[in-house]
Amino acid sequence: MASTTETPAASPYERIGGLVALRRITDRFYDLMETEPAFATLRAMHAPDLAPMRESLSLFLAGWSGGPRTWWEANPGKCMVSLHAPFGINHETAAQWADAMRNAIADTAPGDTAIAEALADVLDRMARGMAKA
Ligand code: HEM
Repeated sequence: MASTTETPAASPYERIGGLVALRRITDRFYDLMETEPAFATLRAMHAPDLAPMRESLSLFLAGWSGGPRTWWEANPGKCMVSLHAPFGINHETAAQWADAMRNAIADTAPGDTAIAEALADVLDRMARGMAKA
């Protein structure tokens, strides 16, 4: 007979390594954006101080992957896609975002490689889906 006390499957948030791992990924992402010439156009779209973005993106990714919903509590009713509509994202800048994030995930390598690849793939699709031209 099946047990009724099975442990629930780990959420993507837990498999990635929680907020500590997401902060590592996010910090690497903005470090790459700040230093790599390949991401210069993307960098230029952001405010000079990336510290608020480091905080905001890591908290967004935490809630989105099944962890604490701090970002949503701080931003009630805010929609990530509508929020990006005024930025004039095109295929080039969407690809820069997706590539920087894929590199950041690879560089900080969560131990669970299947979830690391799944994370890179789904964020790649999300970023490219925001391109309007
Ligand atoms: C497609 C390429 C993307 C571009 C060019 C882009 C660009 C931007 C820019 C210019 C800002 C405002 C930053 C500032 O004021 O300094 C921003 C904010 C933000 N973006 Fe993106 N973004 C992209 C994709 C994404 C994706 C896929 C996510 C989520 C997975 C994301 C998450 C965020 C978050 C959390 C904020 C801050 C919102 C807030 O807390 O107010 N972005 N983005």
